[in-house]
Amino acid sequence: MKSGIVYTPRYWADWVVDTYGIADKWINGAVVLDPGCGRGALSEAIIRLAVGKGFKPSGKDLARLHGVDRDETALLAFRKNIDRHYGLKLPGNSLISGDYLLEAPKVAANVILANPPWISFGDLNNEDKSAYKPIFRKSGLTPDPRSLLLGGSRIDLAALFVATALDRDMAKNGEGYFFLPSNLFRGEGAHSAFRRLKLPGGRSFALRELRELEGGESFPGAGTRYCLAFYKADCPQFWPVPWFVALPEGRWREMDAHPVDDPGSPMVPYPAGSRPPRPPRIDVPAGAVPRQGVNCGGASDAFILEEIGTEEHGRIPVVNKRGTRAYLPAEMVYPLMSPSCFIPGREIGKPERWIFLPYSRDGKILSTEMLKDHPDAENWLERHKIHLVGRKGALLGRYAAKGLYWALLGVGPYTFAPWKLAWESYGRDRFVPRLFGSEDGVYWQGNQALHAYIPFSDQKAAEEAFRDFKSPAMEEYLRNLGGASTKSWAQPGRIRRLLNPVT
Ligand SMILES: C[S@@+](CC[C@H](N)C(=O)[O-])C[C@H]1O[C@@H](n2cnc3c(N)ncnc32)[C@H](O)[C@@H]1O
Repeated sequence: MKSGIVYTPRYWADWVVDTYGIADKWINGAVVLDPGCGRGALSEAIIRLAVGKGFKPSGKDLARLHGVDRDETALLAFRKNIDRHYGLKLPGNSLISGDYLLEAPKVAANVILANPPWISFGDLNNEDKSAYKPIFRKSGLTPDPRSLLLGGSRIDLAALFVATALDRDMAKNGEGYFFLPSNLFRGEGAHSAFRRLKLPGGRSFALRELRELEGGESFPGAGTRYCLAFYKADCPQFWPVPWFVALPEGRWREMDAHPVDDPGSPMVPYPAGSRPPRPPRIDVPAGAVPRQGVNCGGASDAFILEEIGTEEHGRIPVVNKRGTRAYLPAEMVYPLMSPSCFIPGREIGKPERWIFLPYSRDGKILSTEMLKDHPDAENWLERHKIHLVGRKGALLGRYAAKGLYWALLGVGPYTFAPWKLAWESYGRDRFVPRLFGSEDGVYWQGNQALHAYIPFSDQKAAEEAFRDFKSPAMEEYLRNLGGASTKSWAQPGRIRRLLNPVT
């Protein structure tokens, strides 16, 4: 997908215009704005449906259809298409060539109908990043100024289009219809400010209806789950919000939806008329935070071990996936969690793979001097040096600049906690927690985003939390959030919300 550009297929363009009576609104005098109009799939659908009703648009009517795009070629195609298919000439000022976020089109729209670009801030090119950063900051989407660098870089540009449209270009009591990635409403973290959005001008607006589209007709190129959100300006928000799920053959399942917790939390749909599901609450010691497994930044050859032999005098023979054989200090080789640890109804199986962690048990990386005391580790790292130094990422780069090119992500004192309450967090549709103890100095490690865990220093607290984690309410809660079998299934942010720290 080039810069988040996916043109709306004719089916969905006609559907949105028909479902929300947008052609009639335009016929009856509404000013319509399509920010990021591309080749005009949405405006064309308005014209098509209006003409189909026998309406003969005048130049004045066409002047109430506005499109903005920074792609001049697309605008040209838009204009030609309307001429060729409907014999209509769009007035010169109805299509604006420019950046919608940087230049206001000076339109007060009664209807904003858009399929804005779907691309996260972190994936924009550097020029766009610097141009949009101040606008993101002003929009109320990034309450914490640092958040565009941290998790906030996952905020979608589409969210900024919505915030800008509602705040700047909407006439009084205007309506907004936006095709959007579903994670704006369903995901943890990056979009919580979007969900509880306070427009900088203080204007009120409400999410009136949401339709999840991906169970219905296809949306070629969307690449993610997508929905249609209907907003109304200058009115209060009421809950629940009607939520429809597309089914094959144009049918819909009717549901209600509510934020699962505080107003910024992900929205959950539930059967219309019933009570919204409530998140389970789990007491944990203050400071207990769910974490992802260890991340080797793509250098699995240097850290992941496929086989190990018997330890002798503190040295253990190891083999990596390339078949490279060596000895490593046994104290730095740890069992890695694998699917067989999480088979329901079975005990934690034997380790299938291991991970080499050149760290001390307080979670600190070994210094160059400390490594000299462990020649096996030093030799092994030296053999993998080129690959290790070439790893991407700012944090790993900073370590490499200090000569500590063997750094890993997600290693700290918590990595060596005596108890880990762990679960598979990625791509699953069942929730199977396991309690790993470190008897005999065996500290099991999670494998990158596949596993998440909460570290515990106290056995009793770990066992109590484990008991609560085994409740079927956990899996039910995660299923309600959506994301079964996706990367978000039981990621740390989703579980963190359930924890009740007790001092
Ligand atoms: C997802 S496409 C959708 C196009 C069209 N609305 C449709 O439904 O087929 C998004 C469009 O936004 C345009 N775009 C992206 N960033 C923009 C910006 N900052 N200002 C104006 N247009 C932009 C792209 O050129 C592209 O045509």
